[in-house]
Amino acid sequence: MSRPLLIAPSILAADFAKLGDEVRAIDEAGCDWIHVDVMDGHFVPNISFGPAVMQSVRGYSKKIFDTHLMISPCDPYLEAFAKAGSDIITIHVESGAHVHRSLQAIRALGKKAGVTLNPGTSVSTLENVIDLVDLILVMSVNPGFGGQSFIPSQLDKISAVRALVAGRPIDIEVDGGVTADNAGAIAKAGANVLVAGSAVFKGGKYKENIAAIRNAAAQARGEIA
Ligand code: DX5
Ligand code: ZN
Repeated sequence: MSRPLLIAPSILAADFAKLGDEVRAIDEAGCDWIHVDVMDGHFVPNISFGPAVMQSVRGYSKKIFDTHLMISPCDPYLEAFAKAGSDIITIHVESGAHVHRSLQAIRALGKKAGVTLNPGTSVSTLENVIDLVDLILVMSVNPGFGGQSFIPSQLDKISAVRALVAGRPIDIEVDGGVTADNAGAIAKAGANVLVAGSAVFKGGKYKENIAAIRNAAAQARGEIA
């Protein structure tokens, strides 16, 4: 049985001056998860925000907070992001030498563990940690900035991840350049969680934008006509 289709808007594309209200707005607009992009200016060439900001907006939605750590090292901050209200914490395979240990640490904190890989990183890096993860995130842009174009070669990577997952209870998420135009192909390749920043926040029409992405993916999954 395929896993449920979920739409996870990235608050990186929100107006940071009113971040709490933005979280409430995407919640009310029908999102499934809230995707939280954390950048350190070291692992990626941009800085976003840390656990204190996340904690201050946590109360604005009861939905799943899906934290994507683009930071290196990640281990010293896992507890802070768990305490700040993350439900899922995802780390990069490129972020340190001890990915296996980091994933164990996330689970020991009582959180779901996710692993992700940059567009230039091979799926084989996941093979030895697959039994420790609840989610695999395929990056479809080089992380660091919202508003980039989807890298088409990552569609084959999504299919390869689906083959590796082989029916295990693991969500397959895609992040970067996701729009209503490519959501169908992404869903067909095997992803069930679609992250979108610009495509959700553009024009202020959050509800319509989320629905457009969801409908395109649901159609490709054969769930609606
Ligand atoms: C990229 C981030 C993404 C990004 C998505 O570094 O991890 O979550 O904000 O933004 P869009 O949908 O605009 O590509
Ligand atoms: Zn992200």
